[in-house]
Amino acid sequence: MSRILCRGVLSLRVISAPMARNASYLIEDPKYSFLRDLGLEKKNVGVFNGKWQANGQVIQSFSPANGKVIAEVQAASPSDYESCAAAAQEAWREWAELPAPTRGEVVRQIGDALREKLQPLGQLVSLEMGKILPEAIGEVVEYIHVCDLALGLSRSLPGTILPSERPGHVLIEKWNPLGAIGIITAFNFPVAVFGWNSAIAMVCGDTSVWKPSDTTPLIAVAVTKIVEGVLVKNNIPGAVASLCVGGKDVGQQLVKDPRMKLVSFTGSTAVGQQVGVEVQKRFGRHLLELGGNNAIIVNEDANLDLLLQAALFACAGTAGQRCTTTRRLLLHKKVYSEVVTRLTKAFAGVVSKIGDPLLPETLIGPLHTPAAVEAYKKTVAEIVKAGGKIEFGGKVIEREGYFVEPTIVTGLPHDHSLVHTECFAPIVYCLEIPDLSTGIAYNNEVEQGLSSSLFTESLADIFKWIGPGGSDCGIVNVNIPTNGAEVGGAFGGEKRTGGGRECGSDSWKGYMRRSTVTINYSGAIKLAQNIQFGDQ
Ligand code: UN1
Repeated sequence: MSRILCRGVLSLRVISAPMARNASYLIEDPKYSFLRDLGLEKKNVGVFNGKWQANGQVIQSFSPANGKVIAEVQAASPSDYESCAAAAQEAWREWAELPAPTRGEVVRQIGDALREKLQPLGQLVSLEMGKILPEAIGEVVEYIHVCDLALGLSRSLPGTILPSERPGHVLIEKWNPLGAIGIITAFNFPVAVFGWNSAIAMVCGDTSVWKPSDTTPLIAVAVTKIVEGVLVKNNIPGAVASLCVGGKDVGQQLVKDPRMKLVSFTGSTAVGQQVGVEVQKRFGRHLLELGGNNAIIVNEDANLDLLLQAALFACAGTAGQRCTTTRRLLLHKKVYSEVVTRLTKAFAGVVSKIGDPLLPETLIGPLHTPAAVEAYKKTVAEIVKAGGKIEFGGKVIEREGYFVEPTIVTGLPHDHSLVHTECFAPIVYCLEIPDLSTGIAYNNEVEQGLSSSLFTESLADIFKWIGPGGSDCGIVNVNIPTNGAEVGGAFGGEKRTGGGRECGSDSWKGYMRRSTVTINYSGAIKLAQNIQFGDQ
C-alpha cells in the first residue's frame, strides 16, 4: 500500500482529446455558483507568472463526491515552467529589497482577501478535495492565521548580536532571503500547506513557484487569483507568487532547478525521498513533510469520554486523509475492551453522516480518488487475509463518488507490516498494551515520526511522554487528537516523515540564509584565538 497511490502527488490525470462540445461540467450548474465568485471558468489557465498563460495538457478536475468533472485547467508545458522560474527569480530582486514590514503589509492584505473569499473558497475545497465544509473553511482559516503570524514576524524577524572575544569587534547574525523557492503541495491540504510556506516565505523576502497537486488545480488557481489581486493592488510583480499546475514532469523540472534555492515538498515518503536526493545533488535546501503513522496511547487512568470524542475526529475525520490522522490506538489492557466497544458504537453513529461534504449534516466526506478507494479495499482484504478482525466498517459504500466506511481493526500484532504502513484512508488498528513503556515503544517502532498523543491524568506520565525516552515524533500531544495542529508551533516530523518544520516557531529560518558577520571597529587587526601571525 502506498501513499503515492492515494495522494497522487506527482501523478497526472489528463485528457488528450477535447471534451464533447455539449459535455456538462459542474461549474455550469447554478448550485456551484461559488466557483464563479472565485473567478473560475469552464476552462482555466493553470500557469501564472504575472500573466496567465499555459501551453501544457488539459486536466479535468473531478469532484470526489460524485465523480463528475467540475471544470478544466490547462497545465504547464516545460517552457511554461521555465518562464515561471525565470520570472520568480527576476521578481525576487525587487521583492527582497522591500523592507520586511512592507512585505508583511502585503501578506496582511492577502489575509484580508482570504477573509472576503472564506465561504466560496471553503466550498471549493470541499467540492474539489472532498473534506467537509467546516474543515474546508478551517483550512482557509489556517492560511489566514499564518498571514497574521507572518505579519507579526515581518516586524520581529530577529538577528542576534553575540559577544566578540576581540576588543573593538562586533559579531552579528544577519538573516537574508534565499531567493526563489519551489512549493510542492499535496491534495489533502491544498490551501493551508501552500499558505504555511507562502506567507512565511513572502515576509522572509523569497518569491515562489507553486506546483499544487494535479487533482486540486482549481483550488490552486483560485488561491493564486486572490494573491494576484493583492499584488496588483500594491504594484508588485505577480511572479512573486507564481503558479505552475502540472504533474510529475513539472515537479521534476522544479526539483532539479538550481534557481529554486529551497524545495518544500509535502507528499509521500517514497517521492519525498527522491525529491530530497535530487535537491541534495545540487546542494539545494529541502523541507520535507512526508508520511505519518500516528498513534494515540490510552493510559489506564485516561478520561475515556475525552478520548472517545478525540479519537472519532482523529481516526475517521477527513476520511482519514490527514498526514496527522490516527492510524493506531495503543490501549491499556484495562481499558482496551471498553474503548473498542465504545469506538465501534461511535463509528456506527457517524455512518449515516457520510456523504456530500458540502451538506451541513455531513461529518465524513469521500476519499479523494478512485485509486484511494482501491488502496482501501486492498488493505482491508490484506487485513482479513492476515487474520485481523474488522470490528467495524471495511466496506466501500455503494453510491456515486468515492465513499468508504471508517474502519476499526483488531487482532493484528503491533509489528505487523500492515500496521506499520500508512494507508491514506480511515482505517485504525487497535492494539493492547500492558503499560506506558510498551506504548511508547510501539509508538516509536514505526518508520515515520509525525504526530502522537497520550491520554492520561498522570503528571509523571506526561513528563515521561514528552521527555527523552518518550515519543520520538515531531508532534507530541497530551489529551488531544493527533491531528488539528495550530499554526503557532513548528509543524513536521522525524525519521521517514522527513525532518522538515513549517509554519510557526522558528520555521522561518528554513526560508532564509544566515550570515555570521564580524565587524572590526578597533583600528587594529587582532586574530581570534589570540593567534600571533608574524610581526604584529
Ligand atoms: C497534513 O495532513 O498534510 O495538524 C497537514 C493538522 C493540520 C495539518 C495537516 N493542521 O492536522
